[in-house]
Amino acid sequence: MDKIIIEGGVKLKGEVDISGSKNAVLPIMAAALLTEEESIIENVPSLWDVHTMVKLLRSLGAKAILEEGILKIKPGNHLKPLAPYRLVKTMRASVCVLGPLLARLGEAEVSLPGGCAIGPRPIDLHLKGLEALNADINIQHGYVKIKTKKKLRGSEIYLGGAYGSSVLATDNVMMAATLSHGKTVIENAACEPEVVDLARFLKKMGAKIEGEGSPRIEIEGVRKLRGVNYRVIPDRIEAGTFMFAAAITGGDILIRRMEPGHLNAVIDKLHQAGVRIDKFKNTVHVRKNGRLKPIDITTLPYPAFPTDLQAQAMALMSVTPGISIVTEKIYPNRFMHVPELGRMGAKIILEGPSAIVHGVKKLSGAPVMASDLRASAALVLAGLVAEGATEVQRVYHLDRGYENLEQKLTSLGAKIRREKE
Ligand code: EPZ
Repeated sequence: MDKIIIEGGVKLKGEVDISGSKNAVLPIMAAALLTEEESIIENVPSLWDVHTMVKLLRSLGAKAILEEGILKIKPGNHLKPLAPYRLVKTMRASVCVLGPLLARLGEAEVSLPGGCAIGPRPIDLHLKGLEALNADINIQHGYVKIKTKKKLRGSEIYLGGAYGSSVLATDNVMMAATLSHGKTVIENAACEPEVVDLARFLKKMGAKIEGEGSPRIEIEGVRKLRGVNYRVIPDRIEAGTFMFAAAITGGDILIRRMEPGHLNAVIDKLHQAGVRIDKFKNTVHVRKNGRLKPIDITTLPYPAFPTDLQAQAMALMSVTPGISIVTEKIYPNRFMHVPELGRMGAKIILEGPSAIVHGVKKLSGAPVMASDLRASAALVLAGLVAEGATEVQRVYHLDRGYENLEQKLTSLGAKIRREKE
């Protein structure tokens, strides 16, 4: 296992290009299964999770190859309906092959994803939605087996859960509905930009979809979909991570090839925290603008503040004078980064779904343990500003969702290197 060592104290300066979106490309890769024809997807980041999804597509019988950011997927007509535990256990997003397999083959058998560091990852909403499309669900031996009675049939489906909408459940139902007979309405659909990107990919394939990006999505089933060329949106969570990196180091960076409109809630909070952000077409210019000020953040479904930037925001708040409150409403125990930030001198008290952050003058570098993708990003940000060296262990978590992170940070002046553990 690799580790990353960071010497803190450098103000980041310069320009960085954002990669394609992990959370957009993963469901789009699953959607490619909805036709036997080849799809070519561009702006694909070389990430651990993308390579896992390539392996999964191949294990289902599709041809898939990623070269220089271009992914070619040719599902063909000999797909198998089984997504094995050994692959699904490493990546929850594998569950989004359920809808496409059910629509193409009339059946699917996918290992239950289990939990991960940020909490239980149930799929009850996925199953509720697919069952409503006239499928039978059977859960046994850790697998969900799903089969259409005759043919998938459109339906009105309310996809609301305890935490609001579900991104991948919306994706699964939308994908299955594209080849169902008749009209499907998804109420309380997720509105994330990645859901919109998936809908655009499906519409280019010939699907009839309206309302993507709103809580009500309507899909009119069609007989067949075709292979397409498509370019994936930029990764808003990577872009947001670099915005927090500029803020925490008091730097001045241009973040390019991103969509400022995907980060309005984050930009609003950073403004409140005293960070200057100038927005351009596909770029933001981020620099510190005087003293940082404490803020209160609550994570909620899009367009509210994203849970995937909660840990990064907390790193910034840990060195912001005053008291900030971070409330996590999507994954109530997504606080694995808190004890690790504490090892660096952060003063954070957990109170149920909230963290009360007392800003300190200085963090001190220390060996810390990454636990999940975004927590590890928060530890890197803390290392950038801490006194001395910080050693982040188990950085395979980072490699799941950040492409060339050390190289990008080094190009901004950071003193950061990777070593074999
Ligand atoms: C997507 O996960 C993202 N992953 C997550 O990003 C992100 O944190 C999450 O959406 C929320 O924005 C991908 O897109 C690959 P959910 P997803 O279903 O779809 C509960 C990252 O760091 N729920 O929207 O799996 C669930 O427990 C990752 O890039 C049910 O109760 O998340 C959670 O509390 C982490 N039943 C909430 O809904 C269900 O059937 C939101 O989960 C499904 C979800």
